[in-house]
Amino acid sequence: MSMTLTPATLAEPFACALPRASVSVHFSEQDRHSLYSIIDARRDMRHFAAGAQVDEETLARVLQAAHQAPSVGLMQPWRFIRIRDENLRACVAELVSSERDATADALGERGSEFLRLKVEGIRECAELLVAALAPDDGTVFGRRTMPEEMALCSVACAIQNLWLAARAENLGLGWISMFNPAALAQLLKMPPGSKPVAILCMGPVDTFYSAPMLEQEGWRQGWPLHELVFHDNWGNTLTGQRSEEQP
Ligand SMILES: Cc1cc2nc3c(=O)[nH]c(=O)nc-3n(C[C@H](O)[C@H](O)[C@H](O)COP(=O)(O)O)c2cc1C
Repeated sequence: MSMTLTPATLAEPFACALPRASVSVHFSEQDRHSLYSIIDARRDMRHFAAGAQVDEETLARVLQAAHQAPSVGLMQPWRFIRIRDENLRACVAELVSSERDATADALGERGSEFLRLKVEGIRECAELLVAALAPDDGTVFGRRTMPEEMALCSVACAIQNLWLAARAENLGLGWISMFNPAALAQLLKMPPGSKPVAILCMGPVDTFYSAPMLEQEGWRQGWPLHELVFHDNWGNTLTGQRSEEQP
């Protein structure tokens, strides 16, 4: 499936989406293959190519992909803050660094092993974004029983769209959740009721990890899917009763 960018679609900032006509496209085997390949090749990246940049048109496309995410009651509670000021970037890095230390303390005996892992690429990445939850607009549709969770899930859907679009553009993206949300909100002058959800490092990389970096570094192994699909009752896999212990 090809995407046509014309001067008209680019004129309006961040308006260059897939043309709406693509909605009725019947996707081919090749299209499906491409989508699954992108999903398979997406990685959480913490290493970025030095001195690289993301051009504005590409940034616009991936943000538009994020903005096309589903959201509860069409609430669209996502906001993206693009950090352009280098001093601000340094302050964000500091916030993450102190939370990284606190995480190491909280991990106890695995703390020093944790500190050997690279958990962010804030200083090196070409683009630094903060994905945030907007103040609650009172949407009730779909949110009566779990209002904050459903708004947060909607923001996460947008981030995942962004992540996959970035990978399709051959850009790495890393999600950082190690920060004090109140401190980051204050730093970015966010309004009461809003919440930073993710710090996103995005940019060209030299190579993509071939597997989750936490697996490559021996921190943790992911579960195979068949262990996480249950039949009728919790824990009932085709191979027996599953315990929740880490492999
Ligand atoms: C909600 C969320 C928060 C995360 N926070 C961090 C983080 O603070 N630092 C980090 O290095 N990775 C973070 N990650 C990335 C995960 O470690 C990563 O997705 C996981 O190890 C699987 O690797 P993969 O994304 O390459 O498949 C986060 C991912 C998610 C979805």
